[in-house]
Amino acid sequence: MKYIRILLPLAILAASLTSCRKEPVLTAEKISLITSRYELILNTSSDLSRFPRTISKNGDMVTTNKWDWTSGFFAGNLWYLFELTGNEKWKNEAVKWTEALDSVQYWSGNHDVGFMINCSYGNGLRVAGNEEYKKIIVQTAESLCKRYNTNTKCLESWDYRRAWNDTTEWFFPVIIDNMMNLELLFKATTFSGNNRYGEIAVQHALTTMKNHYRPDYSCYHVVDYDTITGNVLDKATCQGFTDESSWSRGQAWGLYGYVLCYRYTKDPQFLSFAENIAGFLLNHPGLPEDLVPYWDYNVGEKGFSPEWKYDPSDYPVILRDASAAAIISSALFELGTYSLSNGRKYRATATRILKSLASPVYMESTVDKYFILNHSVGSIPHKAEVDKPLVYADYYFLEAVLRQERLNSYAGYTIPLY
Ligand code: GLY
Repeated sequence: MKYIRILLPLAILAASLTSCRKEPVLTAEKISLITSRYELILNTSSDLSRFPRTISKNGDMVTTNKWDWTSGFFAGNLWYLFELTGNEKWKNEAVKWTEALDSVQYWSGNHDVGFMINCSYGNGLRVAGNEEYKKIIVQTAESLCKRYNTNTKCLESWDYRRAWNDTTEWFFPVIIDNMMNLELLFKATTFSGNNRYGEIAVQHALTTMKNHYRPDYSCYHVVDYDTITGNVLDKATCQGFTDESSWSRGQAWGLYGYVLCYRYTKDPQFLSFAENIAGFLLNHPGLPEDLVPYWDYNVGEKGFSPEWKYDPSDYPVILRDASAAAIISSALFELGTYSLSNGRKYRATATRILKSLASPVYMESTVDKYFILNHSVGSIPHKAEVDKPLVYADYYFLEAVLRQERLNSYAGYTIPLY
């Protein structure tokens, strides 16, 4: 009996992994399309102080400085292209674009340093074993932890600012996106032996569970805190349809965030929380057939609060957000390796999403000659990057592609997905 209890789950896991071996989503032709677009980016953007982010209305390259939250994704994409093709030229470029972010490690101006440094240096360490990157990750964690408050028990995302209505003040705003910065903190604990970074990450995740999430496992975008009492002052949106709606990329960040918390802690409450979020996302009646969500799960829903943050007549067609789909796909591949009962379903769903994204609808464009995926949304309420390619959509798409390939070639007892 004892042996059955041990062997049965292993047998189920092995069977589900075997049955998930499939053809790669990207054909050689598609890989060549992707590499030609990134070659064009490199030829167009050789200034290492300007980081490719999206395209303008005319299809021209739009870049940012290194303090923008998206600055690390371009280097990350170059690391992923090196992994995808094995061609050293991508690695050489990746090193240059990663190291161009060196001074970000000392910055504590907002929470995004986790995105910026983990996607660049984190991948450089993982892919090329650049050991000296460890101390940059630890220093970045030190900078990020300056934003931790022992009363609110979480990391502040943005400094003081006013909300949409230009009246409500946010004193300690925390956005769901912040869950993504925890990966860097967990790594910093591993590299330095200092438990404080990982403990702050766990506490942030627990506070977010309590205050950002609704009973149906959808989440608010922004929660504002009183820094003295730690009480919640406001729950709202910034990039979503309404305060009470479910902004799609925010839901995706939350899913990915709790999966990574489980990766580092093996605390079952994070696993079941991630599974509950996945349940909300995948069973939502508003999810389109191709599993690429609209930019907000509730946009256009009849009877939903009309307190919307944008004028629907500006955007008569309800747009998708390919970036949210790519993040969800990548997270589901990893979640699929942890969940004994739903693993196969998550991996199959992640693959379906990838196939949709790799289809001509999202990958072929008459406007964009630079990036991989079209039809993402930066922020509709800000009228910014509406129905555009985005460097971070490409990042999570490539990550998901590589995760699917690693799962396909699984032949051992551990699955090195990250
Ligand atoms: N982290 C900002 C965004 O998802 O738009």
